[in-house]
Amino acid sequence: MKIGLRTRLCGEYRSQHVGQTIVAMGWVQTRRDHGGVIFVDLRDYTGIVQVVFRPEVDADAHRAGDRLRNEYVIAVRGEVAPREEGNINPKLPTGEVEVLVRELEILNTAKPPPFDLNEPVDERIRMTYRYYDLRREAMQANFRLRSQAARIVREFLGGEKFVEIETPVLTRSMPEGARDYLVPSRVNVGQFYALPQSPQIFKQLLMIGGFDRYYQIVKCFRDEDLRGNRQPEFTQIDLELAFTRPDEVMELVDRLLARLFQESINVEVSLPIPRLTYQQAMKEYGTDAPDLRFGLKLVDLTDIVQGCEFKVFARAADAGGQIKAIRIPGGADMSRKELDDLTAFVAIYGAKGMAWVKRNPDGWQSPIAKFIAGDIQSAIEKQLELKEGDLAIFCADTAKVVAESLGNLRREIAKRRGLIPESAFEFVWVTEFPLFEPDEATGMATAVHHPFTSPVPEDLDKFGNSDILAIRAQAYDIVLNGVELGGGSIRIHDTGQQKRMLSLLGMSEDQAEEHFGFLLTALEHGAPPHGGIALGFDRIIMFLVGTDSIRDVIAFPKTQKAADLMMRAPAHVDDLQLRELGIRLRGV
Ligand code: AMO
Ligand code: AMP
Repeated sequence: MKIGLRTRLCGEYRSQHVGQTIVAMGWVQTRRDHGGVIFVDLRDYTGIVQVVFRPEVDADAHRAGDRLRNEYVIAVRGEVAPREEGNINPKLPTGEVEVLVRELEILNTAKPPPFDLNEPVDERIRMTYRYYDLRREAMQANFRLRSQAARIVREFLGGEKFVEIETPVLTRSMPEGARDYLVPSRVNVGQFYALPQSPQIFKQLLMIGGFDRYYQIVKCFRDEDLRGNRQPEFTQIDLELAFTRPDEVMELVDRLLARLFQESINVEVSLPIPRLTYQQAMKEYGTDAPDLRFGLKLVDLTDIVQGCEFKVFARAADAGGQIKAIRIPGGADMSRKELDDLTAFVAIYGAKGMAWVKRNPDGWQSPIAKFIAGDIQSAIEKQLELKEGDLAIFCADTAKVVAESLGNLRREIAKRRGLIPESAFEFVWVTEFPLFEPDEATGMATAVHHPFTSPVPEDLDKFGNSDILAIRAQAYDIVLNGVELGGGSIRIHDTGQQKRMLSLLGMSEDQAEEHFGFLLTALEHGAPPHGGIALGFDRIIMFLVGTDSIRDVIAFPKTQKAADLMMRAPAHVDDLQLRELGIRLRGV
């Protein structure tokens, strides 16, 4: 840059600078030629300043200005001047001034832009030219907010005596629910590192190491099917505390989130964040990640309709299932087609039908009215608080199908009927998750959270008997608007208990020793009680910037097929590289 350094950024020019000789640099946003006078909008991340090439100001600069094209990178020296009366642009912060150019240096040329930043464009093209896409104003704002959020988190946790410690990226395979990304070792041919799905074990070891409070804003890697708000590599705000209890962790995260939302987007989170047990959440919302921005709670009618004449209900109740309903205030205006659509919608979740009742002035309008006696109708109305003009929708099935059908239907109806206040942020803690769940494929017990989570003390006596699915965990999730933001637990700090846990998960003693011997040993060297949580940082940023796409908050994201379209990763490697690693590909 022969011309020197910038005097200030493009978006900062104001009337007070009139008369100054300055240097400005940036990208050519547009170039207009008005009868021999060239106007360029010069852009950087702060905004735009108009620079003008007039032959009478400097003939050489004017000639050079003629070569400029969009996205050229330039430096200009010139004088800040007031714009003429008719040219003032009140919409632009710099709109009262322009720079009269005396000297132009083209720092770099640019090919014609691959697409127009102001027009809709296929996301694959955006990702292929990500560096160009990042020049978008919205993208700039997203990543600046992300950076600010990280700073707020660090300030807050630093103030709470947390120590930021880095943990290894080359580590060993750990069970955390997803597949591991493996890295072959050259010096130990035939052996593999795994990239961490989370720093879970390391943070526990740091508690044993006496750090008391640890945190890290850390990359995690999971080879899982990518949908919606998942990426194969993502970032957690990971923390762990010694000598703690669930209350302390939740109260701390309450304050962290409140500070973050307040300072970054000026949204007040009212504290304490409400808490629901897993049982309550499943009962009233049919999901462990309830969206509390709207009502439409699930109401259990099993006891009321048990033994009624409507066989579908009676049979479900006899088989140990449930009959639940949701009341849609004013929903009696729904058309037949809308109801048919909703019936098709719940079928996705396994519902075999969807009974409904419109509460008209003269009573029930419903395909099932004739099967339900008057006194039972009254009891249902009372339980549901069904009023004139309302609609009730019923599902009878196993508890699981009822929860999934009505839980999803609740959201769908809220969406369709515009019942979701767009600007609301409704946080909720879901506590006391079950410790185990049956694996659908094998029927074996698996850990709901992870194998290091401790049971609630009152359920410890069940640890030894057969009813292990009834054991509650000291585990908690933080949920925002129906999205799981984070999850954590109090850990097992007793070796015997940890061994018992691994054995309940179907591991032999040898396997436990092989995979977790180091942890079991570490627990024997004075492990304090400890617990923590990890918050999905990308997901939090999605809320802060208001986007539905996680790819809008990750600078270089991957596609659904876990590919980086710009770098073209993953990619084949040289045969020599493979040979050094002792790897031969099996017919791919
Ligand atoms: P968990 O597996 O629940 O807990 O992860 C914590 C949070 O990380 C986010 N997250 C993801 N974000 C984007 N893409 C993904 N693929 C992805 N997977 C998870 C979610 C999730 O709530 N070690 C434990 C925490 C602990 O017990 O302290 C853990 O990793 O927002
Ligand atoms: P059917 O007896 O199958 O004609 O069903 C009568 C009504 O009950 C219809 O409105 C069905 O959609 C509804 N229905 C059928 N099965 C279920 C179920 N499992 N849960 C709720 N409603 C159902």
